[in-house]
Amino acid sequence: MGMKKPEDVVLFKDNKRIDGRKPNEIRPIKIEAGVLYRADGSAYVEWGGNKILAAVYGPREALPKHIQDPRRAIVNARYNMAAFSVEDRKRPGPDRRSIEISKVISEALERVILTEQFPRAAIDVNIEVLDADAGTRCAGLTAAGVALADAGIPMRDIPVACAAGKVEGKVILDLCKEEDNYGEADMPVAIAPLTDEILLLQMDGHLTYDEFEKALDLAIKGCHIVSDMQKKALLKKYEEVLEVE
Ligand code: CDP
Repeated sequence: MGMKKPEDVVLFKDNKRIDGRKPNEIRPIKIEAGVLYRADGSAYVEWGGNKILAAVYGPREALPKHIQDPRRAIVNARYNMAAFSVEDRKRPGPDRRSIEISKVISEALERVILTEQFPRAAIDVNIEVLDADAGTRCAGLTAAGVALADAGIPMRDIPVACAAGKVEGKVILDLCKEEDNYGEADMPVAIAPLTDEILLLQMDGHLTYDEFEKALDLAIKGCHIVSDMQKKALLKKYEEVLEVE
C-alpha cells in the first residue's frame, strides 16, 4: 500500500484489473481439508498466488498453568511466513507484522469457537505461509476455519475472510500483489457467515465513507463465495472417508 507506482504499471483499464479480473471478481481458490496426518485438523489453501497450510492442535491442557483461564480455552493462532515465501528472503521467526496478524486472527477465531466448553485448555492454530501474494491474513484465517472444523472443535460458525480495497478510485474485491503495493486502500474482513457478524476488520490506506460501505459489502459477498468453498472442501473429505469405510 502506498508504494510509488512505476510508469508502466496499469492497474485498471477497460473495466479490467492488472490480472484481467473484473472489479468484483475473486482470484482462483482451491481448498483441501485434512491434509496432515498428525495434526488434529488441517487445511491447505491456494488463493491466487498464495499457498497456505493451517494445522490445529488441541484442545489440550494450557501450560504453563498460570496462562490457564478457568472459564474458557485460550486460542493461540500463530501466523508464520516461510523464509522463501516472499520475493526477498524473509528473516525467519516472528516480526511485528506476524505478531499483529497472529493476534487479530486469534481474536477473530475466539469469537466463533465455543471456548467455554474447554476451561483451562489451549487450542493451537498454526498458519504457515509457503507462498505469499497479498491477502495472506484472509487466506490464512480461511484455512484456519477449515482446519478447526476438521479438528472437530465446536464452533458457532466456520469463520471466513476476504479483502476489498481501492485502486485508481475504484472499489475492488480481493487485491493482488500489485494492487496491494500501489493501490489506495486494502481492507481485510472476516465474518461468521451465518449471521454476517464481523470478526476482523482492518484497513490500510484511505476510503471515503461511501467507499467504505461499498468495500464492506463487497468483502462480505467475497466471504460468502469463499465460505461455500470451505464447506465443499469439508464435505469432500468426509465423503471420501465414508467411501473407504
Ligand atoms: O498478506 P496480507 O495482505 O494479509 O498482509 P500485508 O501486510 O498487507 O502484506 C501484503 C503482501 O506483502 C503479502 O501478502 C506478501 O505478498 C508481501 N510481503 C512481503 O513481500 N514481505 C514481507 N515481509 C511481508 C509481506
